[in-house]
Amino acid sequence: MTNYGGKAPLSYNKYLKVEQLIELQKRLALPEKHDELLFIIIHQTFELWFKQILQELDATIEYIKERRIIRAIRNIRRVCEIEKILVAQFRVLETMTPHDFLLFREELKPASGFQSTQFREIEFLSGLKDEKLMRFFDEEFAIKRLKKRFGDETLHDVYFAYLKERGFAIDTFENRVEAVVKIIKDIEKHAEEFELEEALIEHDEIVSKWRYHHIKMVERTVGGKIGTGGSEGVGYLQTTLAKRFYPEFWQARTQLEIE
Ligand code: HEM
Repeated sequence: MTNYGGKAPLSYNKYLKVEQLIELQKRLALPEKHDELLFIIIHQTFELWFKQILQELDATIEYIKERRIIRAIRNIRRVCEIEKILVAQFRVLETMTPHDFLLFREELKPASGFQSTQFREIEFLSGLKDEKLMRFFDEEFAIKRLKKRFGDETLHDVYFAYLKERGFAIDTFENRVEAVVKIIKDIEKHAEEFELEEALIEHDEIVSKWRYHHIKMVERTVGGKIGTGGSEGVGYLQTTLAKRFYPEFWQARTQLEIE
């Protein structure tokens, strides 16, 4: 018999804490409603992937600061692959009928995805900080995390600091757009700056797709009803569609011309 130093051998279930994990889905509606388990598992899965995305974004910021650009690009590419899965995941929730959702929806009030702390952390860390959003969080763990993220450097900050070191002026919005235009015009001369910009704009684009698919799923499930969090629902969500992490990258496309 293999000796494991006197300790009980590791198992799959112990390592992954499967016993605890599958106890974490507590349905509220009584009698139990079949689709509430799906609803909880989908949200918990999102939050687990958000945790992974945050780890990758943190690491990417460090890599950019250390000028390890190839590593940074690889990390953002991983983030994009995870985000594609998150967009696709909405399809599973769309198998729930609008009526089956109503059977347990009342129980959820006033909770809402609007209170997803990690989603806001991803926005903040990517470059989109909105202090007003902090007002909506009252749990200690959420406030602590968001305050820290609000003070932290963002991917937007470190990308443009990197361009500054490479000789680009970045002090105004127009300068930053001009820098990106120059990079796009000569991708061989600015290969790393360009590939990192492309990875970041993809991250920005997929999060926009996430917002769009979330809205369509919400509309398909609850129509124009007020959200469980108390917002106007779809009407509110539509106002978030114009959000961008890197507006300079998008503006550069408008400004770009051949010489
Ligand atoms: C049937 C399923 C769902 C419905 C009907 C729904 C509905 C809504 C509504 C109406 C809002 C606006 C705030 C409010 O008043 O509540 C909202 C916000 C939000 N939901 Fe969902 N949602 C669903 C599933 C999900 C899932 C699976 C996630 C994944 C984490 C999610 C994440 C979010 C986030 C992050 C926000 C804030 C968006 C922002 O402010 O930009 N939702 N949701």
